[in-house]
This record gives sequence, C-alpha cells and structure tokens, in this order.
Amino acid sequence: MAQRATLGEGNTPLIPSVSIGPKLGLKNLYFKLENCNPTGSYKDRFIAAEITRLLNERVTACVATSSGNTGASLASYCARYGIRCSIIVSPETPPGKLVQMRAHGARLFLVKHFIASAEVTSKVLATLERLSGERNLALVVSAYRYCPEGMRGVESISTELAEQLSEQLSERLSGQRGGIDHVFVPVGGGGLFTAVCRGFEHAPGPRPKVHVVQPRGCPTVVDAFERGVDVVRAVESTTKISGLSVPFDADATLALNTLRKNGGHAFGVEDEEVYEAQRLMLAEEGIYCEPAGATALAGLRRAVAKEMVQRDDTIVCPVTGHGFKDPESIGKAAEKYPEVLLQASELEEKLVGLEISGR
Ligand SMILES: Cc1ncc(COP(=O)(O)O)c(C=O)c1O
Repeated sequence: MAQRATLGEGNTPLIPSVSIGPKLGLKNLYFKLENCNPTGSYKDRFIAAEITRLLNERVTACVATSSGNTGASLASYCARYGIRCSIIVSPETPPGKLVQMRAHGARLFLVKHFIASAEVTSKVLATLERLSGERNLALVVSAYRYCPEGMRGVESISTELAEQLSEQLSERLSGQRGGIDHVFVPVGGGGLFTAVCRGFEHAPGPRPKVHVVQPRGCPTVVDAFERGVDVVRAVESTTKISGLSVPFDADATLALNTLRKNGGHAFGVEDEEVYEAQRLMLAEEGIYCEPAGATALAGLRRAVAKEMVQRDDTIVCPVTGHGFKDPESIGKAAEKYPEVLLQASELEEKLVGLEISGR
C-alpha cells in the first residue's frame, strides 16, 4: 500500500491584519501563517510530498542542498521515516536552522561560499547530481528543476487560501466580494512563487495577481523583469536574508515566465526594508517570523507607495518562516525594548503608570 509521509503540515491559519493593513489604508489584508507548519516553514509541504515519493520508491538515503528551511524540514521528516540524510549548507546559515537539522540527526556539511557564489553553488549541485545518478541517493532541492513532485505539494497553499478567504469574506462582508486580488510572494529560487501561481490554476474563483518580492541583493527575477528579457542572469548574492539568496537559475526563469503570464509585478526590496517589515510584524501583529517571512509585506509596502493596490482589494502576504529560525534578526528587533533588572521591592514603583502608556 502507498505510504504517505506527514507530520500534520498544511491547513495553516489565515488571519486578518489588525494594524499594518489599516495603517496602510487597506481594508482586507491577510497573513497566511506558514510559520505554523511542523518545522516552522512552508517547506514542510514540499518535504512531505518529496518524502512520500522516496518512501514509495524505497529510497533509503538522500542528499540535499539548503539555505536552511528545506534542510530543517528534511531532517525532521527523515528522522520520522528512517531515511538517512546529508545536507549541504552555507556556513552563514542562521543558527536556529542549523541546530534543527543537527538535532534531528542529519549529517551537515558547511561548504564555503556555497549559496553566495553562483559558481560554487552550481559546482556543488553538479557534483550532487552526478553522485545521485550513480547511486540510490535521492537529490532533494526545493525547486521544480530538481524535484517537481515535491514542489507540487507546495501548490496546496493556494487552494487552501482560496477556500479560507471565501469563508472569511462571506462571514465579514456578507458575501459582497469573493476572491483574492493580490498575493505577494518572497522569492529566492522562484519555486515557491511558481507553486503559488500553479496552485491557483486548480483553485476555485478568480485568479489573483501574484507578485514577486525579491531582495535587491539577489535580483535574478527582478533584474530580468525590469530589463524586459526572458533569460535570467546568475548573480553574486549580497543579500543577508536567509532563504532568499539563490544566485543561479534554480526556478528563476520558470518564475519569470509564470509572472509575465499571470500579470503580476516584480518588486525589488532592500534588506533594511525586509527587517523593517519584520519589526512591524513582531510589534504590531504579534507574528513571530524570520526576515524571509516578512518579505511579502516589504513588497506590499512598495506596492502601496506606488499606488498599485486599492483600498478595498483583498491582499495576502504569506508568512513563510518562523522567528525561532533566526535569533539574530529577532534579537535586533528586540533591542528597541530593553529588559529591566531590579529587586522585587522596586517592582511596584516601576509598574505604576504602565497601564496608561500606549504602543
Ligand atoms: C522562509 C522562506 N521563504 C521563502 C523562500 C523562497 O522560496 P524559493 O527559493 O522557492 O523562491 C524560502 C526558501 O528557502 C524560505 O526559506
């Protein structure tokens, strides 16, 4: 009988914005909490589908490349299903992601210049492709180019979104409007973006505009979109946003073509805009996300500044990864709110008056 790998991924919450949306003048902004997946990112949808494939093909070992979240997810599902896994990462990977992989027993290889350099990254991938072809060793990379079956698992985000929104909107607006107008998607390699667009092809209701949001420091899709060309150039990545540094054409050309077909826009954002969006998510929405998980919002803020979205539009920003993954970025956001060390006897004096101070 076919086996299905699962840790309960998917069916993540969709919640309305309580502060950021209203302040931007938007009535219907929603966050899709992909950080609530079992290992803290949307990658669990990919890995559940990919591990299902490996189990049914009786593969017992795999090798993966990862910017962190694929590896964390893979390590967890492999631990559960008895598959040996080795993961190649960059030494810059945030500690929250590295420790997740190791705690689940994955073999970790930190390869110098992997990810930041397109040349090193391509070389590593070529070696792994050769090895996996020669042995019964699956190659796991979260891109359609390498793992189309696993990536199909990610497409469920859009069918869920369409269903959840039609429910929420009919409750809130007594069925006045249906459908989503805009979805902003953080882009590294471009697989997630492509999956979201493909998912909407199978979802009920009108298709939203799905937009690319990519760091200016790794602008594979944004650069080709702005230059009006069909071919993506490899870049040397300078972005520090973990997960979004993919300097070669993993699924970037696929994402670019999908973007053009679907009529969305490509927004390039500076790392500082992403950190600012993360701080807003933390302080105003109570959402604990890593920087990549706040990147959709950084793109939306650009779209608002350019008047590319309307007040009544229904807009979704997927929060793709959890704050626990990247303690350094969270620590920077927390610096604004210092802790106070005191004696118990001093407490009352410090607390008096707190009830009247606002945000
Ligand atoms: C949290 C998070 N968001 C978004 C992405 C981007 O996905 P893709 O590389 O498929 O564009 C990643 C990729 O690692 C990620 O980890």
